[in-house]
Amino acid sequence: SDSLRALADDYNLKIGSAIIPFDLDNPAYAKVAGEQFSSVTPGNEMKWETVEPTRGTYDWSKADRLVSFAEAHGQQVRGHVLLWHNQLPGWLTSGVADGSITKAQLRDLLQKHITDEVAHFKGKIWQWDVANEFFADSWSPQPLANGMNGDDFWVKNLGTGIVADAFRWAHAADPKALLFYNDYNITGADGTNAKFQAAYDFVKSLKEQGVPIDGVGEQGHLDTQYGFPTKMQQDLQAFADLGLRVAITEADVRTFVEQTDDKQTPTDQLAMSAQPFYYDQMLKACLAVRSCISFTVWGFGEADSWVPGWFTGEGYAGIYNTDVQPKTAYYTLQQDL
Ligand code: XIL
Repeated sequence: SDSLRALADDYNLKIGSAIIPFDLDNPAYAKVAGEQFSSVTPGNEMKWETVEPTRGTYDWSKADRLVSFAEAHGQQVRGHVLLWHNQLPGWLTSGVADGSITKAQLRDLLQKHITDEVAHFKGKIWQWDVANEFFADSWSPQPLANGMNGDDFWVKNLGTGIVADAFRWAHAADPKALLFYNDYNITGADGTNAKFQAAYDFVKSLKEQGVPIDGVGEQGHLDTQYGFPTKMQQDLQAFADLGLRVAITEADVRTFVEQTDDKQTPTDQLAMSAQPFYYDQMLKACLAVRSCISFTVWGFGEADSWVPGWFTGEGYAGIYNTDVQPKTAYYTLQQDL
């Protein structure tokens, strides 16, 4: 019956969730958000398209609401995300596309974005996801020689060196925040370690160049139709051995479902046991690595999960159901702590 956050305190581990600030209007949701978690991440509200919808006009209100909630509940905040190819404001991408924003201007706009955002939240953010999803895989199959995604908006326009610059700008604006590189599938399974290796070589070279990077986040978006990435602990440890913190930053475990009204019923009975097992294995991988400082789920409820909107026919990915009641996966995490 102990909360996840209370149990995890014994390990000096923060248990987090992505939170949609608007959902805090629901008292049942807000109660779980405050009681169970010691860290929160805004699901979308610190992304560039949200904070600067119109060029030159900032809107921090949604993110500020979550930061205030965190302060009121003794929670840390993971800032998410400063440099990413997705959820950029339309004025920025269209300006680059039509040539009205030059590459030099784009670089200046990015520096200003990172500097202003990190400064706005200075002293309030524990970990920043500075750069997100830069490596090629089957979703973005145009690898450069170093394994980075050659099709990435930032890489195409400003080159791979922009990642190091982003860390330097973020560090200058809030020297005490822990700065993370974040990605999915960078902890691998046997035989499919290419993305891990590319990310590993890259962050190692950042460290060697003296770039202010403090950590690596494995998102942890898993799917019961694929095997569990059995090298998660080993690969987290490899990052840790470079002198970096590590974290699981966006854990969820999706599966195929039948959708009736707002209820999602898994169609594969094996998935019902695979899901808690995958959560269990992810948390255990983190617990086994001393430098793993936080384990965050990407939305604890089913209602606010990104999965149904992004993966056709899939859902049931969280640790609470649509009625904000804990699922088996929740009890499995509780058992592990
Ligand atoms: C997702 C949000 O959860 C959705 O609401 C949004 O529509 C798209 O982005 N990796 C990330 C997160 O780093 O920012 C993404 O969040 C999920 C994948």
